[in-house]
Amino acid sequence: MKKLSYFLSVIFIAVGLCACSPDDEPVIDPPAETPENPDSPENPDVPDNPDIDPNPTAGKTLVVYYSFTNNVHTVVSDLCTQIDADTVRIQPTEKGLDYAANNYAIGSAQIQAIRDKPGDASSYPAIDPVEVQFEAYDTIIVAAPLWWSNMAAPLQTFLFNHGAEMAGKRIGLIVSSASSGIGGVEADAKRLIPDGNFLSPSLWIRSSQIAGCHDMTAEWLKKIGYIK
Ligand SMILES: Cc1cc2nc3c(=O)[nH]c(=O)nc-3n(C[C@H](O)[C@H](O)[C@H](O)COP(=O)(O)O)c2cc1C
Repeated sequence: MKKLSYFLSVIFIAVGLCACSPDDEPVIDPPAETPENPDSPENPDVPDNPDIDPNPTAGKTLVVYYSFTNNVHTVVSDLCTQIDADTVRIQPTEKGLDYAANNYAIGSAQIQAIRDKPGDASSYPAIDPVEVQFEAYDTIIVAAPLWWSNMAAPLQTFLFNHGAEMAGKRIGLIVSSASSGIGGVEADAKRLIPDGNFLSPSLWIRSSQIAGCHDMTAEWLKKIGYIK
């Protein structure tokens, strides 16, 4: 029975696992302007956090991410060439939605629903089921697009459902936006993973920097103490 449930878990992870393969989602241009809220100050280059165990590679690492236009997917794919990690890509249940159409109307409505009632499960858009054996991981890297100053809604759904299971784990945060500062996404991550040990700093990669993300992720891995 144990073997069967382990086997099923592996299958579930394999379904959500898309370690570096592109998918069919549309590729759109990011907004030239911040749709809402002016840019927050640049993510401060905070020195390594002395409170965090400086040996994050001691256990296994999971990268969980969502990507609509594949910018975050590109970053995660590159990251996978530098670290040994399992990856899970979150997929909304409703396929084919263009979150950017009509001045980002769908994405905006999803974010507004969460802002209105962040404690209500019905505020979060449905995602495909993903089964993760959280006990297997010491470090979880959350990689997120920014939507209207917040974390993209489908990834918030995953964290709303599973953030409590990440208690005590080292949490790294990577955020991609067109131009907006990432303070709101950091706040979302901390709200949804209230007992995570957040590694500092978070990594902010603008859409215009995606092509050069390799050096940024390599430097970030050193800053958070992941790579010496
Ligand atoms: C619904 C929606 C809202 C967005 N809102 C913002 C925003 O407020 N500020 C910003 O700089 N970029 C915004 N963007 C752009 C994305 O954050 C940016 O293009 C990011 O790199 C996309 O990552 P992805 O390709 O992995 O989905 C938005 C994109 C979408 C689809």
